[in-house]
Amino acid sequence: MPLLVNIDGTLCRPEEAVVSVLDRGFLYGDSVYEVIRTYKGKPFTLKEHLDRFERSAARLDIRLPDRDWLEKQIHSTIEAAGNDESYCRIIVTRGGGPITLDPTKSTGSLTVILVKEYEHFPDWMYAAGIKVHIPMIRRNPPAALDPAIKSGNYLNSILALLEARRAGFDDALMLDVLGRVTEATSANVFMYHQKKLYTPALRIGILEGVTRRLVIDLASRHGFEVEECDIFPEQFWTAREVMLTSTLKEVMPVVQIGDARVNTGKPGPMAKKLREIIQAYAHQQVNA
Ligand code: PDD
Repeated sequence: MPLLVNIDGTLCRPEEAVVSVLDRGFLYGDSVYEVIRTYKGKPFTLKEHLDRFERSAARLDIRLPDRDWLEKQIHSTIEAAGNDESYCRIIVTRGGGPITLDPTKSTGSLTVILVKEYEHFPDWMYAAGIKVHIPMIRRNPPAALDPAIKSGNYLNSILALLEARRAGFDDALMLDVLGRVTEATSANVFMYHQKKLYTPALRIGILEGVTRRLVIDLASRHGFEVEECDIFPEQFWTAREVMLTSTLKEVMPVVQIGDARVNTGKPGPMAKKLREIIQAYAHQQVNA
C-alpha cells in the first residue's frame, strides 16, 4: 500500500481523502503532529510520541481525541496498510470554522493519520555520512513559537533547509539567537569529544526528541558519559564525531559542517555503535 489515510476514523486512499480548505491546519499551520515508525511491524515508542503529542496540543490548546481511540486508530491503520515496516504520521488540526485567526471560533478538531511504507535511508548514507550547513536563519526562541511544540508550522525548519539545499548541503544545523547549536531541521544533534557525548540542553529551545532521550538513556546504560549543555559551533572543529538523531534517521553521522570536515571527514565508530544500540533496543521492545 503506497499511502493509506485515516480521517477522523475513516480509512481511505489518498486520492479520496478530503480535508476542508477552511481547516485551520491548512490556513495557518494550526495543528500538531507526530511521526512514528514500526520495527517488525509494531509501532515503536508510541507512548513517548503520544505523551509529546499531548504536551504539544496542551501548549496550543488544541483538543486531541481520546487517547485510547487514537491508539486503536493508529494500530488499525498500520495493520490495514499491510506494509513490512510503516511510517506513520498523526496530525490533529484545530479544525475548521469561519475564516478568522481567532482560535475560539473553531468548530472542533480534525484527526488525520497517514501511513506509508517506511523508507530506509540508504546504507551508503550511513557509510559516507552527511554534510550540514549552518544557515543564517536562527531557530525560533522558546519565547516565540517554542521549538518544543511539534506544531504543523515548520517554516523555520523549511527556511533553514532551503538555505542548506541551495548551498549544496544535505541538512541544516540551526543556531539560536545567541549563536548556540540547537538542532537540525528534523533531528537532534550530538557531539562526541574526549570520550563524552554532548547534546544541546532542552532549555535553549529544541524539540525533545524521543530518539535523543533514548540515546541519552541507552548510552549512559552502556557506560558512556552524556552531558546536556550549551554547544557552540566552534566546538565541532575539535570534535571526534557529530551525529543527528531522529525516529526516521536513528543515528546519522555528520562528516562536514559548512566548509569544515568533522575530524577525518569519515563517520566514526560512536555513531555506528549508538545506531546499533537503538536498533537492538527497538527490536527487544517490539518483541516484548
Ligand atoms: N522529526 N527535532 C525536530 C525539529 C524534529 O522535527 C524531529 C523529528 C526531531 C527528532 O525527534 P524524534 O527523535 O522524536 O523523531 C528533532 C520527525 C521525524 C519528522 O518531523 O518527520
